[in-house]
Amino acid sequence: EKGGYPHFMLKEIFEQPNCIRDCMRGRINVEGTNVVLSAIIDHKEKLLKAKRFIIVACGTSWHAGLIGKHLIESYCRIPVEVEYASEFRYRDPVIDENDVVIAISQSGETADTLAAIDLARRCGAFIYGICNSVGSSIPRSTHTGSYIHVGPEIGVASTKAFTGQVTVLAMLALTLAKNKQTISNNEFLKIVGELMSIPDKMEKAIQTNNQIASIAKVFTYAHNFIYLGRGYSYPVALEGALKLKEISYIHAEGYPAAEMKHGPIALIDEEMPVVVIATHNGMYDKILSNIQEIKARKGRVIAFVSEGDEVISKLADICIELPQTTECLDPLITTIPLQLLAYHIAVCKGKDVDQPRNLAKSVTVE
Ligand code: F6R
Repeated sequence: EKGGYPHFMLKEIFEQPNCIRDCMRGRINVEGTNVVLSAIIDHKEKLLKAKRFIIVACGTSWHAGLIGKHLIESYCRIPVEVEYASEFRYRDPVIDENDVVIAISQSGETADTLAAIDLARRCGAFIYGICNSVGSSIPRSTHTGSYIHVGPEIGVASTKAFTGQVTVLAMLALTLAKNKQTISNNEFLKIVGELMSIPDKMEKAIQTNNQIASIAKVFTYAHNFIYLGRGYSYPVALEGALKLKEISYIHAEGYPAAEMKHGPIALIDEEMPVVVIATHNGMYDKILSNIQEIKARKGRVIAFVSEGDEVISKLADICIELPQTTECLDPLITTIPLQLLAYHIAVCKGKDVDQPRNLAKSVTVE
């Protein structure tokens, strides 16, 4: 059932290109000129006149929500808040019938996310679910939604569900933006075209597997890791750190790179591995200077860069090249090597990657 792979997690990481093809099937036309999420068309009026979106989720799904915020705000010009479901539900939040709540959950059974939905619905909000598990509790308690269609996720650490969630959020932002006319036709076509090439680029990102497996051995000594990114890569840094914590039991923190100088940079010494997502996009020069700050304190930089990078490759201790895509879709590529890094470090340390200690696949109690 593991299809020849030693663990479900590795199988699910490798499956991602096909999962994303499945996720997009029937939603993007073959010419790559249009995106249609039927839930949006069915509830167009409600969604177009929303004053605010609130995304509620936990864990990895919450990280996907942060990317969703960036996408929806950029292209639809609607304010978006991203909330931990467990905090939202106990805060007596200000919410009414002008709000749309997007609940993101792989399992569709997370207790806090379900409770957040119930609260928001009682306040009159319209609820949109983004789930994987068909027929689970969350999709049944929403007004509408979109499944991510990535197939059952067995490994406890979420991998393909995350990229599926981000893909649905990108399609949601594009569909809404087109209907709201907040995106130019050129920009729309450019992103849809890039979205269609993501599965092939993911295949290339997966080819870093052997390189990452060999690096992993070097870092089993570490008790701490820092993950840095900016813009769309900041949630990827959080997600990379969460993966490492969950399965290798190494403490890791994800940070927006520029926040380092406000405190955490004190942690940097020659022992500290610092993973930096530094692909070629609008934040490149900024992240480059953040890497220089880390190197000035002798941190060990593991940089994930775009193919052909000649600047960061000279600065970083280890440099891994990834295919380039448009900035807003970059998380779909950069997340993959971070999943692999966590996986290989955990395997080197002899940990049970599919069943990490203290964790359950569905958190059905609060
Ligand atoms: C991380 C992980 C958890 C889940 C979280 C939410 O690898 O698996 O953080 O993302 O428990 O679960 P769902 O998405 O099922 O609501």
